[in-house]
Amino acid sequence: MVQYRLPMLPHPDEIEWTAEVNGAEITLHIENNAILLDVLREQVGSLGTKRGCDMGTCGCCSVLIDGDPRLSCLTLATEADGASITTVEGLSDGHHLHPIQQTFTEFGGSQCGFCTPGFLVVISALLSENSSPSDEEIKSAIEGNLCRCTGFQQIVDSVRAASDILVSGARVEDSTSPKSDPHPGFGEEV
Ligand code: FES
Ligand code: FES
Repeated sequence: MVQYRLPMLPHPDEIEWTAEVNGAEITLHIENNAILLDVLREQVGSLGTKRGCDMGTCGCCSVLIDGDPRLSCLTLATEADGASITTVEGLSDGHHLHPIQQTFTEFGGSQCGFCTPGFLVVISALLSENSSPSDEEIKSAIEGNLCRCTGFQQIVDSVRAASDILVSGARVEDSTSPKSDPHPGFGEEV
């Protein structure tokens, strides 16, 4: 009697993978077909790198590879072997937030927060290349990132304000100091 069985797929080989993640040299054993998003979340522990659509449409999984924004859900980890990777956890300078992190808190650029890491990473790359982007350049930079909460205007406002900080050279306030509520009055009884 003929038996119909699917052949077992061979288990992927393990390889040694090395990268600099947020300034720290990391060496891991990963499967040779591992997706960078999985490696970052499950092996490196970068839970700030979000899994949204897992198919390249939302931008939540954005990281910087050698300074360039990339969708980690569509990137093989082997493509980033030996690279410098920056996730949202690597944007601050010690206790000092990156200007775009600071202004997101002040201008309501983050609401539910799920999309926020992807926006912050992509905008940090924009501002490092162009500290004074036009509105069109801001919109173009974030066109691959989706936000279901803010309506995007608060995000554009946050980028403009972060640009002002960078251009003026003003010191970003210490992240350990108390923050004002970006949504004053929300939840209060009327
Ligand atoms: S999770 Fe990568 S683009 Fe949506
Ligand atoms: S803040 Fe909720 S999806 Fe953007």
